[in-house]
Amino acid sequence: MSEGRMPLVAGNWKMYLGPRDTRDLITDMKFELSREKGLDGKVEIAICPSFVSLEAARDEIYHPRYYRIKLGAQNVYYEEPGAYTGETSIDMLADDTIDCDFCIVGHSERRQIFGETDSLVAAKALALHQAGINPIVCVGDSADDRDVNDNYAISAVLDQLELSLDGLTPKVIAYEPVWAIGTGKAATPKQAEQMCYAIRGKLETLYGKKTAEVVRILYGGSVNPGNALDFASQPNIDGALVGGSALDAKKFIDIVKAFA
Ligand code: PGA
Repeated sequence: MSEGRMPLVAGNWKMYLGPRDTRDLITDMKFELSREKGLDGKVEIAICPSFVSLEAARDEIYHPRYYRIKLGAQNVYYEEPGAYTGETSIDMLADDTIDCDFCIVGHSERRQIFGETDSLVAAKALALHQAGINPIVCVGDSADDRDVNDNYAISAVLDQLELSLDGLTPKVIAYEPVWAIGTGKAATPKQAEQMCYAIRGKLETLYGKKTAEVVRILYGGSVNPGNALDFASQPNIDGALVGGSALDAKKFIDIVKAFA
């Protein structure tokens, strides 16, 4: 990570933890954080629970307020409130009982299981940005892309990135190789840095050097307390999007510490 970009460690809780378990995990996180006073102002922390747990999470974060944990959603629909059964609007995420700071878009599970396309991801990211909620735009290579060779994987990710932004100037990108998510087989720090460097280069081509330098690029895929420091020491990796290890307060805060 580089001077000037505040690292962000975000927990993607996926389809785990209802409101009660959400409160318990945040209570545990606050306890861990209360023992780590030195983290203040060094790293931004966000958690992204499921929709039904967002309000409980917001409550628990604010009372009492030990540390500024930010709140994110895992998905959203970009249209104005209307007849879209089963969907959640951006207005709802912005409601002051929830007040989301972030929203993940284009996670590989959304793309693969729910068929989300780059253009849908781009529409969501743009609408979030316009509403003042920061999209965390996810991109990643598949195992097949990587099997061809590293350069092929890089160009696949850069194409996906451009189409998933469609003109939007991003603030947070998450590079998550599909083959590393939930597998326990993280990318090597070198592979992750090589991709994040290429992503920053692409952002420079699209938006100019000044913008590219301030975009935070996270690595995600089997990040744990044992490998976090290796990712944190790479110049173009500005944080982590953490799945499995985010469900354990101690592990998650240990990852946060690695980026501080
Ligand atoms: P993982 O998930 O840390 O369990 O690999 C990361 C993610 O899906 O964002």
